Order: sequence, then C-alpha cells, then structure tokens
Amino acid sequence: METKLNLSRRSLLLGAGATAAAAGFPTLVLAQITSGQFELRAETISHKLVEGDYAASDLWLYNGETPGPEIRVKQGETARVRFTNNLPEPTSVHWHGIRIANSMDGVSGLTQEPVQPGESFDYEFTVPDAGTFWYHAHNKSWNQVARGLYGPLIVDEPVPTFDREHDLTLVLDDWRVAQDGAFHEASMGAFMDWSHAGRLGNLMTVNGQIEPKVKLATGNAYRVRLINAANARIFHIDPAAMGARLIGYDGFAFPAPRKADSTILLGPAQRVDLLFQKETAGIVAMVNVGDFELERMSGAEPVALAKFAFEGAQTSALPIPALSPNSIAEPNLEEGVKVPLVMTGGAMGRHGNITYKGKPLTRQTMMEAQQLWAFNGVANMSEEPLFNAEKGQTIIVETVNQTGWPHAMHVHGHHFKLVSRNGKRVANMDWRDTFFIDDNETVEIAFVADNPGKWMLHCHMLEHAAAGMNTWFNVS
Ligand code: C2O
Ligand code: CU
Repeated sequence: METKLNLSRRSLLLGAGATAAAAGFPTLVLAQITSGQFELRAETISHKLVEGDYAASDLWLYNGETPGPEIRVKQGETARVRFTNNLPEPTSVHWHGIRIANSMDGVSGLTQEPVQPGESFDYEFTVPDAGTFWYHAHNKSWNQVARGLYGPLIVDEPVPTFDREHDLTLVLDDWRVAQDGAFHEASMGAFMDWSHAGRLGNLMTVNGQIEPKVKLATGNAYRVRLINAANARIFHIDPAAMGARLIGYDGFAFPAPRKADSTILLGPAQRVDLLFQKETAGIVAMVNVGDFELERMSGAEPVALAKFAFEGAQTSALPIPALSPNSIAEPNLEEGVKVPLVMTGGAMGRHGNITYKGKPLTRQTMMEAQQLWAFNGVANMSEEPLFNAEKGQTIIVETVNQTGWPHAMHVHGHHFKLVSRNGKRVANMDWRDTFFIDDNETVEIAFVADNPGKWMLHCHMLEHAAAGMNTWFNVS
C-alpha cells in the first residue's frame, strides 16, 4: 500500500553521493531588498531533497529556497514584507512568535482573507522582542508547511549580542519521501497521520541539507538558533552531550546561560538557542536521540542531524557576550482568570461527546471531515471564542491532555509563562509561545492578554490542528 511507508531513515537507502552537499555550512539566503524591506514569493519549484541519483520534488517554497530566506530585523524596527502568492491555492504568511498587530498575524479566515493565486499582500509590522522566530504559511498549514512554506525570522538586539559570524540559524525539518527521494505526495492528508502523531518524515534536514557540517572556531562562543519547522516531529536534542548550554527558548533569552540537565523535547514550532563554546578542537554531532512518536509506532533509531566541527588551535574561552532579556508584562498569578482547556480525541484517546460545526460529531462526519480531536468537546473553530479577555487581564489556561498523544500548543499574539506541570510549579517559569504537553499531563500557562484582537490557540502538530485542535480567543 502506497501510504504505508516504513518510517525509518534506513528505508531510504542513501547512496554515496547522497550527502554530497554537506561539505560547507548551509548559509541562508537573505530576503532583504533594502533595510527593513523584504520580498517573499510563494511558488512551486522543482527541488532535489536528496542530492545525487534521486528524484526531484515539486515543493512549495518561499523565493525558491528551502528553508525560505532569512528575514532579519532589529528589535523595535518595522518590517515591510511584500508577499506574492504564485501557488495554485490561496495562502497567507504567519509570523510565529512575534507579538504583532492582529491584522498582520497572517491567519487566513481569522485575521485576513487568504491571498489568492497571483495576488500580493503587504505585511507591515513592528517587532517588540529580540530573538529567534520564524514564518510559515497559515492556510491549510498541514499541506503548505509540509511542502516547504517556512523560513527563519531573526530579530537582532539593537546592538547584536553576537556578531554575524558567531550567530547561526539552523532550521530543522523532517520530510516524508519515497524510495526515490521524492516528496511523498500520496500520503498527504492520510487519516492514519491525522488520528495519530501527525505526518512524520523519514528524511531529516537542517537548512535543507542532510547532516551538514558546521565549522566553528575553538574557544569562540556561538549562538546557535534551532527552529523546529516540522509538521509534527518532536526533536530530542541533548545539549549537554554536545557540550552546549541553553540561552533561550522561543525567542526569549534567559538572563544567563543555563546548563541543560536533560534532553530537550523540541516540539513543532518551538525554538531553542544554544551556546556553543569549546576549548578543544573536535567534532560533536547533534543527534536526534529518540523518536518519541515512532517509539510508540514502530521502534526508533538515533539520527545525526548535523555535525559541529571545532577547528583551529586550542585556546582558552573568550568571554561570552551578555544576553538581554526582552521586557514583557508579568502575569498576576493570584488574580488571573482561569480558563480550562481539555484536550480529547485521536486514536486510543478519550473522545466523549464532540461537537463539530454546532452538531454532534457522528462516526460518519468524523471520517468524512476527518475531525478527530477536540478542545473542550469542540472540534475546530467555534462561533464563540474559548474566552473573552479584557485588555490587561491575566489569563491562566489550564490544559488537560486526555488524548493518548503529546502535543505542542501555540498561542498567537502573546508570549506566556509556563507556570506548572501536573500541579507542580516549574523551576524556571520560562517565556514561551509554544508549550509541550505529554499525554496525561496538565499544564498551566499564564499571560497578560494585552494585544487586542482575535487570536488563535492551537496544536502546532499541523495534522492535529487540521483535524480539530484549533480554537481562538478575543482580547478587547
Ligand atoms: Cu506557527 Cu498558528 O502558527
Ligand atoms: Cu497535537
């Protein structure tokens, strides 16, 4: 059966030439026209995901690149992006993690009309926070992001902390490809993916390349920004094993570098900034140490994502530049308004009664519309928002995961503090825009609803979102 892929990287027998492109660091193309002015075109492009004797794929890319070009702006600046849609279907661009004006959030059907084929849209927004962000299509995202519509969006501090040579962006993705190396078209929208872990790929790329080698100078300090652009994969990264420390999550820098005491689960859309500094030359591999979802499905194997080669004479470590945390309103945990959010559905999970488009979901509509997951018993966008907040109010969302699966939940327009897991206060209440929640977990997040408009809150496993894990809230 076509859709029954063996989800193992070994199933794609990479020949000798397959990693030929991995020689140098895959630097990203810049989208800039002039200062603060950018151009993005979404288009269909024939691209080889695997070099050598493998088939090309018709991908959907921004400016013909995978990942899309890097958009770089300075904190506080206004970015102007002229976007043109050359795809066969409508689309829009979302600026993930930017605390943006609502009309520029790029959500088709909620914050704007989708941009029709052949048409353009001018995005113009101010970036309040410095850090690692990204942009991606936000119309049928499960389809458009899987085909390659994403790119990095980096906001530099007014005086950049690390110079460009010591500041690297690595965009991670997993593609599902057939034996010939071409994008696996036939399994798009597969019920199996929508009801289970989402579309997982069997080919991992970093900045569009298979296992690239990144050269770094011994003794120097580097900021390495990891962005998970995969539809559904949770990457398992072990910074300590690489000799790296953590300096920020989801675009928000910590006050000081931090030791990672365990593996990081980098869920879809999440980012982590790593600090690399080694006093001895040598190579360290960034390995995806486990495949959480695959373990539940079919066994796992570690896959090297990239290699970091520290070169040059041994030196003692140069000083690490000081980070500057963003300033954002602190939620009032004592007086916040509590919003319960119960997640149900999916394969092997609790369903209860689910409503879809105002009617009870039947077995038939469930199969036909592929609506399989719900927030508070409602599959997909409801007429009524999850909550209405008054501007300035603290909102505490208590998410209870009653599905049999982990999820990566994203709040639009705001950053929130991760407050507790299973009733226990977390040690560092980090600022995030996307949080990980395992099955049977309860997670509390809190934020000041200070950005007016209608905002989405959804699972960033894009098949889960398409199959029901979408809601919205209103700030006025
Ligand atoms: Cu990164 Cu609603 O998206
Ligand atoms: Cu999910």
